[in-house]
Amino acid sequence: MRAAFFHGKDTPLTLKEIENSSNLAKDHVYIRLKNAAINHHELWMMKEQSESMPGGVILGSDGSGIIEAAQAEDDQYLIGKEVVINPSVGWGNNPAVQAHSFSILGYPAHGTFSDYISISKKQVFEKPEHLSFEEAAAVPLAGLTAYRALFTKARLRKGEKVLITGIGGGVALWAMQFALAFEARVFVTSGSQEKLEKALAMGASGTFNYKDENWVDKITKEAGGFDVIIDSAGGPQFNALLEMAYPGARVVIYGRTAGMIPDISPKTLFWKQLSLFGTTMGTTDEFLSMLDFVHKHQLKPIIDSTFPLDNINDAFNKMDEGKQFGKIVLSIS
Ligand SMILES: NC(=O)c1ccc[n+]([C@@H]2O[C@H](COP(=O)([O-])OP(=O)(O)OC[C@H]3O[C@@H](n4cnc5c(N)ncnc54)[C@H](OP(=O)(O)O)[C@@H]3O)[C@@H](O)[C@H]2O)c1
Repeated sequence: MRAAFFHGKDTPLTLKEIENSSNLAKDHVYIRLKNAAINHHELWMMKEQSESMPGGVILGSDGSGIIEAAQAEDDQYLIGKEVVINPSVGWGNNPAVQAHSFSILGYPAHGTFSDYISISKKQVFEKPEHLSFEEAAAVPLAGLTAYRALFTKARLRKGEKVLITGIGGGVALWAMQFALAFEARVFVTSGSQEKLEKALAMGASGTFNYKDENWVDKITKEAGGFDVIIDSAGGPQFNALLEMAYPGARVVIYGRTAGMIPDISPKTLFWKQLSLFGTTMGTTDEFLSMLDFVHKHQLKPIIDSTFPLDNINDAFNKMDEGKQFGKIVLSIS
């Protein structure tokens, strides 16, 4: 089978032929992957992970496919099931925070950029029927992160005004779709006019380009303020987001695309009684609730483009250039 290996930072992934594994670990299932999707998380690894890995690791958190084998006698009925994979591995018992041993599928455990994966059945869920394999692969990591950010952390209420930054991102677009389905009013930012127009067509109430000199004034004038802000970027512009928050607002951050946040004003935080939340991925319960929500509202992911597994490095180059609007998917079989 083919698998895309990561051997250490600043080198492209290497596609190799390896033996199919015949021995499944306890309670594992063997999935023939139809599609995977890439995430910024893997790009960070390819740029920053300095640990040397002579044997290499198969990256990849998102995947969909068909179960071809199951280790346990009682699990043989799973063969033939069409599934998606929950990439949140070993969350633990505390819903507030992941356990110390938590990991994201694809490091250190081998992930989904491969023809097959052997994985615990606990990580595997039936594919929502209304989604193709390609669409289903674009759901797990980004959908889970957006779901926990909006509903568990920000406790979004119907009719509230939500600002989502960097709308071209995979998580940001899921957050927008979830918030719209929940009857919130959604405003978005992007560094690309073209992406803002696409967001407007999807139902955004207002769009703002964070590269415009006067974007903060423009937001304040046109939108007033926000009950909930979902940010993936951090960076120097984060302080402006706190200024745009209504008193009592909830601000959730899940990414660091724009780097460190300098000089947060304590007075803004305490005088406006803001709640600031960090969030990462989510629990198994949240994964299930997210899939239910996607199914109930018949939501489909926004897919920017699909690359064959053999061209995986082109997919990452596209993400690195930040040109995508939505998920970048890999076709495998
Ligand atoms: N904590 C978690 O569990 C978790 C989960 C998933 C992702 N993340 C993190 O969240 C971030 C986004 O991940 P992703 O997979 O959605 O990435 P992605 O699909 O590559 O999207 C990245 C987006 O960042 C936006 N961006 C770039 N510079 C920005 C700025 N100065 N201000 C606002 N937005 C900016 C861009 O939006 P525009 O092109 O529209 O400007 C771009 O589309 C990454 O840092 C990733 O590591 C964290």
